[in-house]
Amino acid sequence: MVRYDQWIGNYRKGVKETFMNEDLLKGKRAVITGGSRGIGLAIANALLSAGAKVVICGRDENALDHAVKTLKKADADLPVTATPADVAHPASVEQLFEYVDRQLGGLDILVNNAGVGRFRAAGELSIEEWNEVIGTNLSGAFYCTRAALERFGKARGGWIINISSLAGKNPFAGGAAYNASKFGLNGLSEATMLDHRSDNVRVSYIMPGSVETEFSGTRTESSGWKIAPEDIAQVVLDILKMPERTLISRVEVRPSRPQRN
Ligand SMILES: NC(=O)c1ccc[n+]([C@@H]2O[C@H](COP(=O)([O-])OP(=O)(O)OC[C@H]3O[C@@H](n4cnc5c(N)ncnc54)[C@H](OP(=O)(O)O)[C@@H]3O)[C@@H](O)[C@H]2O)c1
Repeated sequence: MVRYDQWIGNYRKGVKETFMNEDLLKGKRAVITGGSRGIGLAIANALLSAGAKVVICGRDENALDHAVKTLKKADADLPVTATPADVAHPASVEQLFEYVDRQLGGLDILVNNAGVGRFRAAGELSIEEWNEVIGTNLSGAFYCTRAALERFGKARGGWIINISSLAGKNPFAGGAAYNASKFGLNGLSEATMLDHRSDNVRVSYIMPGSVETEFSGTRTESSGWKIAPEDIAQVVLDILKMPERTLISRVEVRPSRPQRN
């Protein structure tokens, strides 16, 4: 079990120092899909620490309640709320964004982080597994992107940060659905960036290698070599911190000393 509550307090202190004298994210309104654990939870913590107001979503309501409690441990007044939503379903995404409108009164930052993996040879993948992976990792990001762009129009701009993967450029055996979803997400990210950057919408995507989470049920004893979720959150903050003239459109992040097989 990853002990999120252990690092959340320490990390918040670090982010406060990084953003000292910078009110960059103060009052910015952010939604993070898949914010109940892992990378999404770390990003929620980082954005809150930098002054943003945050909504997180996921499918499991109990996990969301637990995440909000964890985030609020240091400060019960932190502006974070959660709502259950399944990004693979357009109607659920619509409800998510109606909730965002009620909670935040607009939107400045969307982080498309929700993701699942089903790892099986192409010939053994069921249509349900294919649809789940593509529906969550790719179509879900598109549904949320559409909803965010509509709101960014009113806010005169915004950020979309997509959590892709190195699996979006490096195919591997057993990765048919996951590779396809992340290659697709990279294409969606770049095309959306080109479509909307002159409207002051900044679209970036991050491609991490192995991160220490419980992704798709993988059990994690502390590996000692994987990327920490808060390191990906740090990259998100770095993207948001850039001056308006400059856009970090793609970032690859790797463990510096990967385990040798
Ligand atoms: N861990 C890695 O090594 C790694 C490497 C590269 C990229 N990534 C990417 O990073 C992202 C986050 O992964 P993670 O490692 O933090 O995984 P994780 O610990 O399994 O967290 C995934 C999050 O997404 C949510 N989620 C899954 N399906 C959803 C859906 N249909 N609708 C809404 N929320 C959904 C989960 O909550 P519920 O299950 O309750 O819905 C959970 O909050 C994913 O996109 C993943 O592909 C991970």
